[in-house]
Amino acid sequence: MAKNKKSNDPMSKLVALCKRRGIVFQSSEIYGGVGSTYDYGPYGVTIKNNIERLWWDEMTLKHENIVGLDSAVILHPKVWDASGHLKNFSDPMVDCKECKGRFRADQINGTGYGGGSDSGAGYSDGTGYGGGSGSGAGYGDGTGYGGGSEDVNVCPKCGSKNSFTEVREFNLMFDTTMGPVADDTVKTFLRPETCQGIFLDWKIVQESARLKIPFGIAQTGKAFRNEITTGNFIFRTREFTQMEMQYFVKPGETSELINYWKEQRWNFYLSLGINEEDLRWHEHPKDKLAHYAKEAWDIEYKFPFGWGELEGVHDRGDFDLKAHQESSGKDMTYFDDQTRERFHPQIVETSAGLNRAMLAVLADAYREDEQAGEQRIYLALAPHIAPVKAAIFPLVKKGGLPDIAHAIYTDLRKHFPVFYDFQGSIGKRYRRMDEIGTPYGITVDFQTLEDGTVTVRWRDTLQQERIHKDKVGEFLRDRLG
Ligand code: GAP
Repeated sequence: MAKNKKSNDPMSKLVALCKRRGIVFQSSEIYGGVGSTYDYGPYGVTIKNNIERLWWDEMTLKHENIVGLDSAVILHPKVWDASGHLKNFSDPMVDCKECKGRFRADQINGTGYGGGSDSGAGYSDGTGYGGGSGSGAGYGDGTGYGGGSEDVNVCPKCGSKNSFTEVREFNLMFDTTMGPVADDTVKTFLRPETCQGIFLDWKIVQESARLKIPFGIAQTGKAFRNEITTGNFIFRTREFTQMEMQYFVKPGETSELINYWKEQRWNFYLSLGINEEDLRWHEHPKDKLAHYAKEAWDIEYKFPFGWGELEGVHDRGDFDLKAHQESSGKDMTYFDDQTRERFHPQIVETSAGLNRAMLAVLADAYREDEQAGEQRIYLALAPHIAPVKAAIFPLVKKGGLPDIAHAIYTDLRKHFPVFYDFQGSIGKRYRRMDEIGTPYGITVDFQTLEDGTVTVRWRDTLQQERIHKDKVGEFLRDRLG
């Protein structure tokens, strides 16, 4: 399918479309919005759920040795000490003394951290400064800021030279207190990654599900990071959803399984309908690995603002299990009853961001063309991702056409998310559905009264064909599975 994307500020157009159609929009908007948080409206939450369900099925249905888990967001505070997050989960930060802007030092030249690297410190994914909350104009392109010599720095917000404070490490975890009595409260944290719950629970899961190595535990859920700079719409936010799977393997078998999972995860993005040319691998340099990782590969997507990380495939070794064993005093080894060996399993992790996957899907699907002299915007979403599978229209509001169309709709909606619309011109109704990516439009017209056929219009090619109204369900089932 030919791509038909306009080059001028495509990100703003996508953000505007998402707001217009209630797909994703600023949270708490009536209070002026709150930094970089977004709400997902009816179509947005359906697209997001569709992607999440595909991921879940990919892990737990396709792989008989992978099971699911839903662990708590608030874990024992000691978890974050043992996991290394209290000490290492930070980004270098500088403030501009003139405009008080706050930036990640690793994205600004001349701060001693360099600029232009595309992987930041710690866990960061190095997509650059995102331009704060709001519309996602952003700058993030993985190229960092500045570009001047290493000893001159320029504030990206106000342009002041050499106006930065000393670099300080800023811990990205959100802390909170637990318990109702002020003197008695315990300081704890909102999880910055979902996988720690998997490490804490893996033995009870393995024993109760009678899993033998290699096996995996999959979990989706919210994670929270007090990012220094957010932006590029839903790309980098402080609250987001991760889809993580930890694969427990025998020592010595990691390399082979990293390759297996790299292939699986790449194919997942293709299965979302994303154009393969817009994907690439990035290997983290050995001196820029997160504290737990021995090897790390990112799948990156070419967003309108530049390449950005979608997912990491990591060799975490036995870092986490040994750390929790040492901190909790509980045995974290696995006993292999075939070889009679006891060892700490090695972990291969696949860690994806659901919101980023959705942004990639939307950006990849955004199209503009011209129909009858008018601009048309549509989302060329793969039918299994589209929030509405078919729209059913009576051509006009008379002659009994609405009754027939509504009867088709009532029948179809037992099986598919479909939409009935009789308001406005047929052209306008098609446009509204095109903008949310509805693949099929079914129109009841006067010929339906004669021979019982309706037109089916395909969103991308605008081709139309007539089928009998009793065959519409079968038609959709054949195409949607
Ligand atoms: N457990 C490993 C881990 O959390 P990570 O690379 O820090 O690794 C994994 O994060 C994924 O989570 C990223 O590839 C990205 O898709 C998503 N992610 C991380 N920070 C994010 C943020 N601030 N906003 C949205 N998604 C984020």
